[in-house]
Formats: sequence, C-alpha cells, structure tokens
Amino acid sequence: MKIVGGNPLIGEVSVRGAKNSVSKALVAALLTSEPCVLRNVPSISDVDIVCEMIRCSGGHAAISESGSVEICARELKPVSPDRWAGFARQSRIPILFCGPLLARIGAARIAPLGGDAIGPRPVDYHIAALQKFGATIEDQGSDGLLVSARRLTGCKIALDYPSVGATEQVLLTSVLAEGVTELSNAAIEPEIIDLIMLLQKMGATISVDTDRTITITGVMDLHGFRHTAMPDPLEVASWACAAVATGGSIFVGNARQIDLMAFLNKLRQMGGQFKVRDEGISFSRCQDSLRPVILETDVHPGFRTDWQQPFVVALTQAEGVSIVHETVYEDRFGYVSALNQMGAGIQLHRECLGSKRCRFGQRNHLHSAVIAGPSRLRGCDVSIPDLRAGFSYVIAALSAEGVSTVRNIGLIGRGYENFPQKLQALGARFEILMAENLDT
Ligand code: EPU
Repeated sequence: MKIVGGNPLIGEVSVRGAKNSVSKALVAALLTSEPCVLRNVPSISDVDIVCEMIRCSGGHAAISESGSVEICARELKPVSPDRWAGFARQSRIPILFCGPLLARIGAARIAPLGGDAIGPRPVDYHIAALQKFGATIEDQGSDGLLVSARRLTGCKIALDYPSVGATEQVLLTSVLAEGVTELSNAAIEPEIIDLIMLLQKMGATISVDTDRTITITGVMDLHGFRHTAMPDPLEVASWACAAVATGGSIFVGNARQIDLMAFLNKLRQMGGQFKVRDEGISFSRCQDSLRPVILETDVHPGFRTDWQQPFVVALTQAEGVSIVHETVYEDRFGYVSALNQMGAGIQLHRECLGSKRCRFGQRNHLHSAVIAGPSRLRGCDVSIPDLRAGFSYVIAALSAEGVSTVRNIGLIGRGYENFPQKLQALGARFEILMAENLDT
C-alpha cells in the first residue's frame, strides 16, 4: 500500500463482531449436533479459516453476505494429519477444537499453531488442562499432537496466568465433561464473557466469581444457538488512535463503551476526546498538542495489550516522555524499529518500567518502551510483522510527511474487515499495488 501522509482522517466507519470472539463462538457450535447461527460476523480471513476447519471436521458452515454464519455439526469425524497440516501456523484457533472433538468423537489433533509473532506463545496451560480432564497426549512428530479421551471428567485447574486461550480451552472442554470444573485465575476479557453467555444459551451452567474463579457444571447435551457477536473493541481502539494520531475525527459505529473503559481513560489522559452515543463513539483530538502518559498493559479490566501498538503511534505525537510497560507478551515491541526509521524516538528497555508484577523482568525481554515526542514522522518503506502492528504502521504512514510503502498489507485482512474501503471513507490517500508493482 502506498500511502500519502499528512492528512487527518475524518468521517465514519463501523465495526462488526470481534475477531477474538467470533472465532471461539464458531468452535462452540461443534459442541452440539443442532444447527447454530452466529450473526454480526465480519468478513475477515480468520473467519474463513475457522469455517474451513469446521468443514474438515465434518461440520457444515455457510457464510452469508449479510454476515451470518450457519453451522451444523450433526456428525463429526477425525481430521487427517495432512488436512490439519494445511491450517498449521495460520491461526491460534485449532487448539480450541480439542474440547468439542474430544467430547463428541474422543480424539483431536493439534497441528503447529500460527498467529502473530509477538513472543513464543506456548500452549503448556492448554495441554495441562486437557490432561486434567483425562485426555492423553501423544506426540506424533511432524503430524503434531494426538489428543484422545474415552471420557472427560470435571476437575480443578489453577492457571499460573489468566490466559485467554487456556480459559476458553477449559470452558469448551468442561461444558460436556462429567461433574464440576473449577477454574481459578481465569481470564475474564469481554470476549470470554461473550463465550460464557453463548454457552449458557446452549444449556451450560457457568458462574463467574469476583476472584476470577469460573465454575462449570457439565451437562450431557447442549442445544443449538442464535447469537449476535459482540462488537470488536480492538478495532474500535485502532480507529480511535488513528483519529488522535492524525488529528482527525472518526465516528465508530457500534463501538461499545463497556468494553473500552480502560482505553478511554488513557485516551482522555493523552488529550484524546470521545463522545459516547447510542450508536457508537466519536473520537478526535481535544487540542493541538497531546500529553504524554505512563501505562502498563494488563489482562482485563486493565489496558489491553492489543491496544498498545496503535496507542504508541499516537504517543509519538505527544509532547514529552511517555512510558509503556508491556506485561502480557514478552516480545510485542518488534514493530518499534520501523517507527524509529520513520522518525519516532522510542527506546526499548529490558527493565520493568512500571509498578505491576511482570513475568518478564530480569529475563532479557525488551518489554518496556520510552517514547519521546512529539516526532515529525516521515514516509518510509516498511513491512508489516503482525496484525496490530500492521494497523499501527498505516496510522504512522498517514501521520507522516511524504509517501510511505507499507508491505505485507494482506495481514491486516486477518482482523480488520474492509480495511481499504474504510480508509477511503475517511479520506485517506493511498493506492494498493500488486506485489510485482511495489517497487515501481
Ligand atoms: N501463555 C502461556 N502458556 C499458555 C497460554 C498462554 O505461557 O499455554 C502466555 C502467553 O505466552 C502470553 C500470555 O500467557 O504471554 C497471554 O496469552 P493468552 O493465552 O491470553 O493469549 P491468546 O489466547 O493466545 C488471545 C488473543 C490475542 C490477545 C491475547 C491477550 C485470540 C485468537 N488471540 O491470545 O489477540 O492479544 O488473547 O488478550 O483470541 C490479536 O488479536 O492481535 C491478538 C494477538
């Protein structure tokens, strides 16, 4: 994408279902043989991948133009290693197929997982949880792991860290397990609560305690569901940062305040302005100069790690020194070198520059950033390393003087629906070139 910078983004966009909620709701449909309907599904490549994985598992998944997906998994079948290998390294979702497949056909396979390159992203919590439910795990070398279980039994699980994926793994496995499961130190992100609501609609009994303990009472069968996916709080925050960084004004239709409270507080502290309406939230800059902030990413209800990258781009325009301590992923500042190439003044540190207890202190991870601003960004040639960083490069290019070339733009389509169309609606000046024409 060739981007001409220096123009504020002004106009309206709207968001649909959250990438990190929709994908899990689609997997939940495999827990029942009855038909399920998920509405408000965005047209992003992660949805296509999960629907294809459902088909490979013997289910039916049809996506309509209006954004409804009908899923029916009357019968499921084991997926052959070569079919599953086709999905290897594309997404983090395949591991979540274990619960439904174990409950219904007694076996599941785990191929090497994909997702963004933002740290090693181990799956040890998932494996330990599956073993507690009674599953056995066999390493089949290049074919991945074969997980099998004659029956699943409820158990007590305590997570070392409130992992979103491991919490979803336990939810999707426990609902059809025999007896009660108690998960402590669980993640309680809005996407998790949305999954719990959907499972409750299907007939599950799940309670969430004030101390992050989730208790699930297993049942024999679950029913189909009709569910409307929650709007994407990560996409909303991305557009909000784009408005503030470029000095523009964007109304984000369907944005929901409750999922964004920690973000909105920091945005206001920086000098970003927002107005909450019934139909969405509008974002703009409150005054010409932005203020620096100190922030630490955290699990919900803290400031989410996925808001960090676009927020840092906006902070390059703040007057003074900002500090961002990333406590969720050890390697989520990889994108910073490209921003510095564009003229930003960001230094990375191994120390925890914050007050939160963090797993990465003293372990050689560059997980704290000091951002000196305001910086005059200039157009550059950059290549997108991961989804959220990708959006951030585009915001940086739009805020910069001159023309930038942002490569590997296709990655953004994993999580942002109609991205070029939305940019166009906001008045961005850009051109999408085919790979072979990028250097012309
Ligand atoms: N972790 C472990 N062992 C495990 C699982 C996680 O050590 O078995 C660690 C991870 O390495 C990480 C931390 O726990 O340091 C948190 O990971 P978590 O499991 O919460 O992340 P995830 O489920 O793999 C989801 C989202 C991410 C989002 C995180 C945190 C999906 C598909 N992905 O990942 O979204 O950043 O939760 O909220 O839901 C994105 O959308 O750009 C994205 C990366």
